[in-house]
Amino acid sequence: MSRLRIASGLVLFVFAFFHFINIGLGLFDTDLLHGMQDGRKSLSRHFIGSIVIYGAFLLHMGLALISIAQRRTLRMPFSVALQVVLGLLIPLQLLSHLVQTRYAHEIFEVNDEMGYIIILMWPNTAIWLQSLLLLLVWVHGCIGLHMWLRLTRWWRRLVPYLIGVAVFVPGFALAGLLTEGRRIWTDFADPDLREQYIEHYNWPSQEEFQLLFTVKDNALMVFWVALALTALIYFGRKLWRRRHSVRVRYVNGPEVVAEKGMTLLEMSRANGIPHTALCGGKGRCTTCRVVVEEGADQLHPPTEVEARSLKAVGAPEGTRLACQTRPTDPVTVFRVFRPDGARDRAHASQGQERQLAVLFLDMRGFTARTTGQLPYDIVFLLNRFFDAIVPAITAQGGVVDKYMGDGLLAMFETADAASSASAGLRAASGIGRALERFNQQLGAEGSPPVRIGMGLHLGDLVLGEIGAAKHAPRTIIGDAVNVASRLEAETKGLSVELLVSNTVLSAAGLHCNPDDLRDFNLRGVSEPVPALPVTRAAELDSHISPPEQIA
Ligand code: FES
Repeated sequence: MSRLRIASGLVLFVFAFFHFINIGLGLFDTDLLHGMQDGRKSLSRHFIGSIVIYGAFLLHMGLALISIAQRRTLRMPFSVALQVVLGLLIPLQLLSHLVQTRYAHEIFEVNDEMGYIIILMWPNTAIWLQSLLLLLVWVHGCIGLHMWLRLTRWWRRLVPYLIGVAVFVPGFALAGLLTEGRRIWTDFADPDLREQYIEHYNWPSQEEFQLLFTVKDNALMVFWVALALTALIYFGRKLWRRRHSVRVRYVNGPEVVAEKGMTLLEMSRANGIPHTALCGGKGRCTTCRVVVEEGADQLHPPTEVEARSLKAVGAPEGTRLACQTRPTDPVTVFRVFRPDGARDRAHASQGQERQLAVLFLDMRGFTARTTGQLPYDIVFLLNRFFDAIVPAITAQGGVVDKYMGDGLLAMFETADAASSASAGLRAASGIGRALERFNQQLGAEGSPPVRIGMGLHLGDLVLGEIGAAKHAPRTIIGDAVNVASRLEAETKGLSVELLVSNTVLSAAGLHCNPDDLRDFNLRGVSEPVPALPVTRAAELDSHISPPEQIA
């Protein structure tokens, strides 16, 4: 629809442009003015030309009224409002102009040259209204053209020059109109010339004029009816929406009234409220999720898709996917993610407590291995090492929370503690296997193998953004991190690759030979921590049962 409006607007703009230039020629020479007018008429009065121009006029006006009727609000930027108002004023004068020229020509064979219409209007208010029409059309067209092209680079470059053209064209046309008007009116005051003009223009009789006025009034009536119908549809829709609408309040945001039946995400979009939705509203990413602070009990239960997605991220109670939730009663919601993808600090930075598995990993003998090496070689080795082992973490849904020189801290943020523990165990044995492959490569290159130590534990953690606003990476804090770190440190003295706390095994529903478990008194931890030492992480499965559960 908008393309049709632009296309029809362009046709009218081009027509108006040449029409105004034509009028402006009155400033120089009457013959020149009439010569160009004849040329224009041969196009605009041709059958096809007439269809194009009058079709564009009706289409442009009709589409404008439809778009007004379909609006949700009359609030709009000033430039748009100005364009709409000017556009609605144009027919009030243009219809009269069309009836007195083209219609009079077609019905009474009036020779509607520029002089004829000028004499009709000169020297009363009609000439000023006609001048006003010229300005309305021109400003309306210029705004429309600018709105359409303003985002293109070439247009922005041309704007300073186009402003000059925009001011020149109506000024030129008005100057031509006044000059030609004064000349014609002077001629018309001469009785002999007056007779010649009347004959030349085939001046309509009183009755014919009366008919023309009636036609003009009828045309205006049609326009007023169309306008009233537009207003009726607009206010009717508004009333219907009010009756079928619901209030949504956004924490840290506005309060809106939206149509029932829409999803929360659609309501946000309809009201210009930024709302992250990476999967586009398919219920597959959870980035649109909101915490419903008021009215949660009035909402329909989550759909299967929504429930599955929320479960996958272990979303706390009261969380809903905006793209799947259709409120029918007032709600207050908090958008968890900002449009840039970061969590909104107001809630998330306060932290979110979860029971998760964390894994601490450190490369053994790193200092001895890299002493004397060039810094670039050290960076190269570390990156190769992490490239080799990190996929084993991410493959299980884990993420590296942070890299610490030759080590890392990873967490497994899954739906619940059991799945988090299982993911941590699978990742640990996967790292063991990845390390063996990596060491084979190093061996082939004549380099000594890399040794590692890992501590895996599960406990309560707080996930939050720590740091200044917009510079706050998401991180984890809690005793479980300390325990995992201490367990990793213990692997060194035991010469094992992995220490898994019994808490992890229990949460995953697994167990090991009780004789294999050892109690560790860890610094900063009040109680001894029972843990399973595993010499080669790749063989973790053989130490625990039932092994098929972590295969
Ligand atoms: S937009 Fe992705 S789940 Fe709602």
